[in-house]
Amino acid sequence: MPAPTALRVALLGCGVVGTQVVRLLTEQADDLTSRVGARLELVGIAVRDTSIARDPVVDPALLTQDADGLVARADIVIEVMGGIEPARSLILRAVASGASVVTANKALLAEDGPTLYHAADEAGVDVYYEAAVAGAIPLVRPVRESLAGDRVERVLGIVNGTTNYVLDQMSAYGMGFDEAVAQAQELGYAEADPTADVEGYDAAAKAAILASLAFHTRVTLDDVSREGITSITADDVAWAAKTGHVIKLLAICEVTPDGVSARVHPALVPLAHPLAGVRGAFNAVFIEAEAAGELMFYGRGAGGAPTASAVLGDVVSVARHRVLGGRGPVESSYAQLPIASPSSTITRYQVRIAVDDRLGVLAQVAQLLAENGVSIEAVRQAPESSDDGSTGIAHLVITTHSAAESALAATVAAIADLDAVQDVTSVLRVEGS
Ligand code: NDP
Ligand code: HSE
Repeated sequence: MPAPTALRVALLGCGVVGTQVVRLLTEQADDLTSRVGARLELVGIAVRDTSIARDPVVDPALLTQDADGLVARADIVIEVMGGIEPARSLILRAVASGASVVTANKALLAEDGPTLYHAADEAGVDVYYEAAVAGAIPLVRPVRESLAGDRVERVLGIVNGTTNYVLDQMSAYGMGFDEAVAQAQELGYAEADPTADVEGYDAAAKAAILASLAFHTRVTLDDVSREGITSITADDVAWAAKTGHVIKLLAICEVTPDGVSARVHPALVPLAHPLAGVRGAFNAVFIEAEAAGELMFYGRGAGGAPTASAVLGDVVSVARHRVLGGRGPVESSYAQLPIASPSSTITRYQVRIAVDDRLGVLAQVAQLLAENGVSIEAVRQAPESSDDGSTGIAHLVITTHSAAESALAATVAAIADLDAVQDVTSVLRVEGS
């Protein structure tokens, strides 16, 4: 069969990302033709509401509410509408009709990626998703292809731009949580419902995708233990600074003796660690591989144009495959390692407690840590004071050596029961040291 001279491209969604995809497809049309070896012809854009005023780069004549009909007449389908349905059905329909698919939809991939990959295998077409993890940063392709000859041991990173922006604004400018989230939404970083960002679902979806690729094992959103940043207070941020740390929402995927562990939670990162310097909506991911050693990937993890860059990279790849015939490399799940229980996670902790400032209290707390096998690395005590002088309360900040999550949880429960303990104010993991 002769190579095609033009490929019909259907775009599903024309919001923050979709609009920038249209811009790049339009402004770089000639270069893209040269790079692909065939013209990319945008044949339609499916949206919910065709009457909304849109960026002038979007030709209103291309807008349609008939996503099914659009998919049926495309060689390449770009899905940037988000959500599970109808995105999943539309992608499956596209694949079944022989179209290649590019998607930025991490929520769908983390929930049901294997169904899409299986359908793509059956149909012999590509389903590519570089934009689904860490926006503009090339990460999916390096993990799937460049590191395919190595053994990845750990992936540690900041993969959600919104929460990094929020925590950064709180820490650098003392901004309130709600105000910072509103700004992230205005800047196009946040998901349509920012709960997905601040509760850690978005980062957990990305962790599931990265862990699946890195460890050749199917990891879904349900396998990722998750905590968001909604409980982080201005006090936590201030105490982090006092102890030489900054708070970041981290995604951590590793192979442990119990299997694959994937978790997302806020953590204290020492100021000297490179992740501490990742500001605003930027993302950064460390990968530790047996032979390669440490690798770091850094860049814009959210926003219309950065994400569209990753989408277009995939579009060029899948288009080239169609011109040359065949399909590109795919993910594998041959290792199928077990998923480790979150309670077996081993890490360091910082526990902040408000206690009665009297003789023997620190000894009682230390005794409980020892009884549960949790070793203390450092203790700091600060008396609380008010305008009238001492309140009789002291704040204890205890940093531990590495301990199992189950041991730490038992210790904290026992400490909370002590008469002299007013409050266990916060328990944060310490990572990256
Ligand atoms: P937006 O909410 O800005 O845009 C969504 C678009 O999809 C809108 O044009 C909307 O139509 C359309 N749409 C939604 N549901 C339907 C439907 N049922 N039928 C037809 N059209 C529909 O989302 P984003 O552009 O921010 O995100 C898109 C995808 O990219 C998501 O999967 C997101 O997770 C992912 N992503 C986003 C990033 C970002 O920084 N924003 C970064 C990386 C990935 P209408 O305009 O009529 O409402
Ligand atoms: N809402 C996501 C973020 C977009 O803030 O990182 C990129 O996936």
